[in-house]
Amino acid sequence: MPDGDECFLPPSLEASIARSQTASAPVPKVAAGYAQSGNQQVLPPTSGSSGAAQYPHVLPDGAHEHHAHGPHGCCHGDHGEDEEDAHYKEVCYSLLSYAEDAASELMTIAETFHIPDPRDQAMMKLKVDDLMNEMKQCIVVNDHFLKMLVLSDLDAQDYWQMPPDHQVQERNSMKARTVLRQFVRDWGDEGAQERDVQYGCLLDALERYVPKNARPSGGKPRVLAPGSGLSRLPFECARRGYAAQGNEFSYHMLQGCKWVLNETDREKSHVIYPFVLNLENRRNALDHVRPVAIPDVCPSRILCPPGVDPNPEDFSMCAGEFINVYEDQIAEWDAVLTCFFLDTAKNVFLYIRTIADIIRPGGLWANFGPLLYHYAEQPDQISIELSWEEVKPEIQKYFDFKEEDFREALYTTNPKGMYRTRYLCIYFAAIRNDVETEGESFPVYD
Ligand SMILES: C[S@@+](CC[C@H](N)C(=O)[O-])C[C@H]1O[C@@H](n2cnc3c(N)ncnc32)[C@H](O)[C@@H]1O
Repeated sequence: MPDGDECFLPPSLEASIARSQTASAPVPKVAAGYAQSGNQQVLPPTSGSSGAAQYPHVLPDGAHEHHAHGPHGCCHGDHGEDEEDAHYKEVCYSLLSYAEDAASELMTIAETFHIPDPRDQAMMKLKVDDLMNEMKQCIVVNDHFLKMLVLSDLDAQDYWQMPPDHQVQERNSMKARTVLRQFVRDWGDEGAQERDVQYGCLLDALERYVPKNARPSGGKPRVLAPGSGLSRLPFECARRGYAAQGNEFSYHMLQGCKWVLNETDREKSHVIYPFVLNLENRRNALDHVRPVAIPDVCPSRILCPPGVDPNPEDFSMCAGEFINVYEDQIAEWDAVLTCFFLDTAKNVFLYIRTIADIIRPGGLWANFGPLLYHYAEQPDQISIELSWEEVKPEIQKYFDFKEEDFREALYTTNPKGMYRTRYLCIYFAAIRNDVETEGESFPVYD
């Protein structure tokens, strides 16, 4: 495999999907497989047991198959194969073991709720036992959903059964819960406000600065969305007629992408309860047990309506660490859209230089996000936390700013809750000039 680049195209497994709350009518699968970037080699779909289009693994000649996962449940590709597999396994197990994780938290909640005097308990809207039962039901549904993300994926079949003595690390259990909230942001009605503000301005910039006939050689303009989470942003690019690719290195996110892109067959086919364990800051007593139906739109129906074959060139997800995957794709992209991604850098200069390298002169970089710096709180990690005043001139070396302002934004916020973190995000749209990049940085992951 090329460094950090595992691209895999998941087959479907209808049987395990039946475990969730859905009746499914088969529709053609979207072309959102996991396309190989770098040594691009995209194979046509093969016909699988379900009769729907399925994708084989896509590997360059001579490559051997492995799961590329780094030490934080991410596929960095710079780690030994055993280490990578161990992390992939751990991520799968964290999704499979949500029920146990949630049950232990529910037990703690139940204990505290039982403490008040019965007269105080009578003031509660639901009897404690009824509330706990309600929450238990929600947890069962969430559990089926998260299990399905693993059990619907033949690539993960070695890890469909968690050994009874396996202990999932707490941070991975937390990430499994995060997947539920991320589904609200990307594929729930309740996430529409976040998406409209944040993805909306990037998509508007794309349509204004990169018209669909922008490619001198013809064909759809190529748009990359690095760190695309559950893939809504690249999906929206493809929906608007661009050749879009998402990139992600978190296997928690990638399992979610595989399911939503390749396994859903209609909108609102599934229900999750993303807030069930969040009792703080509720306005109404049952807010935390409200269902969220996903996906709000069905990607395969939109990109691949009946009679249209999936085309991996029109839409794909590429798994791997951004720098490792794309650093050699010089001037291959017409646009890069980054949302809440720039500050995932350990060294932001390396991100900027790589983005400048891969966008052709005249191409667009549109960005929306804060400078929270994801590794800032981790003492054992490199994290260079620069201000916007310092970051902007480095971008201006290679890009001409067309638009720039600060905008308020929420991120995976519970819209019904009484608490929210509001970021002041930098939005910009900038056009690549023809200045060659200079300088070198240490690798982001070593
Ligand atoms: C804050 S989230 C934003 C996700 C999505 N863009 C959104 O707006 O909801 C950042 C995402 O970038 C991914 N990520 C961070 N560093 C990355 C890297 N070096 N290469 C690929 N993905 C990365 C993370 O796994 C995470 O899903």
